[in-house]
Amino acid sequence: MIGTRRARKTDAAAIATIEVETWRAAYAGMLANATLVGMSAERKAHQWAGALRHRQTGVWVWEDDGLGLQGFGHCGRQRLRALPFEGEVTMLYVLPDAQGRGIGRRLLLTMFADLLRRGMPSALVWVLAANPSRFFYQRLGGRLALRRPITVDGNPVEVLGYAWADLAATLTRTGGGRG
Ligand SMILES: CC(C)(COP(=O)(O)OP(=O)(O)OC[C@H]1O[C@@H](n2cnc3c(N)ncnc32)[C@H](O)[C@@H]1OP(=O)(O)O)[C@@H](O)C(=O)NCCC(=O)NCCS
Repeated sequence: MIGTRRARKTDAAAIATIEVETWRAAYAGMLANATLVGMSAERKAHQWAGALRHRQTGVWVWEDDGLGLQGFGHCGRQRLRALPFEGEVTMLYVLPDAQGRGIGRRLLLTMFADLLRRGMPSALVWVLAANPSRFFYQRLGGRLALRRPITVDGNPVEVLGYAWADLAATLTRTGGGRG
């Protein structure tokens, strides 16, 4: 197959590799070197194996039969309950060599449809202010709604919150990511 599907327990190692490779490529110069160097695909694979054993809800992958997994994302209920957006996309990573081919768009819209099915009609995603990927979210209709300082491994960074107030309308407008 080529396309999106729910993650399986057996995807743990591939998801971990995508997470580590994409972080190192995307966040160099934005996050501390120690954070990026300190990441371990083996450790992440162990964490993902545990997470996928207990709950696979909300984890989606892009699979290409010939190439294997090329990207993944996770969505669920908004972690900051005070915010007026029910859902949250907590992760979205596409391998550097596979970027720019529409995989991120398909994964994001698949997660929007998932959130909607699970009773969450709106969503937010946090992105590092310095990350050019914020323009991807803008391109997909996200509205800059919030900004806040956070720390990553003790280092201060700013994050931006992009919001979709009406996921149903977004999916209608975009054709739901099909094609
Ligand atoms: C952000 C990311 C998920 C986007 O996935 P992708 O597969 O490369 O994006 P797509 O090919 O689906 O792009 C969809 C549209 O967004 C645009 N786009 C993608 N990245 C962009 C960027 N950095 N700046 C401007 N536009 C961008 C594309 O040109 C495309 O536009 P189109 O509708 O005119 O064709 C991917 O690049 C990635 O994993 N980046 C590194 C990790 C990261 O920062 N993740 C986000 C964490 S919050």
